[in-house]
Amino acid sequence: MELPYAEPWKIKMVEPIRTSTRQEREAWLKEAHYNVFQLRADQVYIDLLTDSGTGAMSDRQWAALMMGDESYAGARSFYELKDTITRITGFDYVIPTHQGRAAENVLFSHLVHEGDWVPGNSHFDTTKGHIESRKAVAADCTVDEARNTQLEVPFKGNVDPAKLEKVLREHGDKVPFIIVTITNNTAGGQPVSMANLKEVRALADKYGKRVIFDSARFAENAYFIKTREEGYSDKSIKEITLEMFALADGMTMSAKKDGIVNMGGFIATRWEDWYEGAKRFAIPFEGYLTYGGMNGRDMAALAVGLDENTEFANLHARIHQVEFLASLLDEYGIPYQRPAGGHAIFVDALKVLTHVPKEEFPAQTLTVELYREAGIRGCEIGYILADRDPVTRENRFGGNDFVRLAIPRRVYTDNHMRVIAAALKNVYDRRESITRGVKITWEAELMRHFTVQLAPADE
Ligand code: F0G
Repeated sequence: MELPYAEPWKIKMVEPIRTSTRQEREAWLKEAHYNVFQLRADQVYIDLLTDSGTGAMSDRQWAALMMGDESYAGARSFYELKDTITRITGFDYVIPTHQGRAAENVLFSHLVHEGDWVPGNSHFDTTKGHIESRKAVAADCTVDEARNTQLEVPFKGNVDPAKLEKVLREHGDKVPFIIVTITNNTAGGQPVSMANLKEVRALADKYGKRVIFDSARFAENAYFIKTREEGYSDKSIKEITLEMFALADGMTMSAKKDGIVNMGGFIATRWEDWYEGAKRFAIPFEGYLTYGGMNGRDMAALAVGLDENTEFANLHARIHQVEFLASLLDEYGIPYQRPAGGHAIFVDALKVLTHVPKEEFPAQTLTVELYREAGIRGCEIGYILADRDPVTRENRFGGNDFVRLAIPRRVYTDNHMRVIAAALKNVYDRRESITRGVKITWEAELMRHFTVQLAPADE
């Protein structure tokens, strides 16, 4: 008999979690104004809010913490981190930052100015925020396939070269760089192929532009290139990673994802002028150049995390688990962005809660129902997150309306995946009876999803 697959690690430390009663959850939901960000984590049984900063570090990472050098300037831990980043990405210049959005803030302060155009593939909200707050345009050039959740294509995160070239042709003199997010979080954790990265590079060269990779989940992207793209199956993840970054000029990184640390980030680039430019903002915003908002021990743990998570076995265990959850949803007929992405399952709420009008936020309603059902916390990546149009102040109902079930790295077991799938099935089975959604009772002007207050629409 062929042996089943199992993780390449065993568990040394555990953290208790507890279930709750439906009655408790009903009261907590009300207190939280039907916004799961407002729940206390203790009120959550299985927490799928994000895969960011929620991973489990290895014994080697915990050991590295004890070896951290906390010197203000020139810490050994910085050089260990820098050497690891250079070995994995090929970039010589490295500036640590406290997390990914800080890397964006520092680098974009140097590069992005009023009236600029920054084309990319579904810019992440903070990336878009740092572009739009500088009165520049984040032009989305994602392939159209990403919109159709039921279409099985291997690289749904790709940049559409025709859309990109249009922006370069029409606004070329206003484009400071192109940004490619690997993997494409907003489109469902969908990867970008090496062939597509090469197409982007060729267009960048044609128009004399530089390319940044938003690299939060670069290792997962490399895994998909190895397993889905022709010609890469015999290459190691580290070989693929080097080949990917050879096509870029620099990167911003949220180390809380593929670095498997709880906090951290960095900028890396091959260009001295970008480094010099970013330096001017790194010091006032983040801290001196050899710590940039991170502790020495955190840089030490990150160096180990980056090394471990660019090994196939570790990535395979993770993506295998996401695929396992997807296979259970397939069994129950629950629609999600296909194929399963790297870090999460994005449930297609519009196809589940077909009776809830879009004005009553189907994905947010499903998020609430899943918590009500089993204390599982997902996250709406849909109409509430999309905010209002800055000019018309209308809700933006144009895109997908997803519930993201983000799977933390090395944290939950396949039994937890079974619970998640069963809870979703129970909600799915009573979907016909869910006819009303939620209404907004208070909202912030920007990034409203964190603090929005809601109530049942029929109250
Ligand atoms: N880029 C991408 C693709 C991201 O997914 C994130 C964060 C960031 C940049 C910003 O990094 O959080 O370290 O400041 N994504 C998290 C998520 C928050 O839940 O998807 P950060």
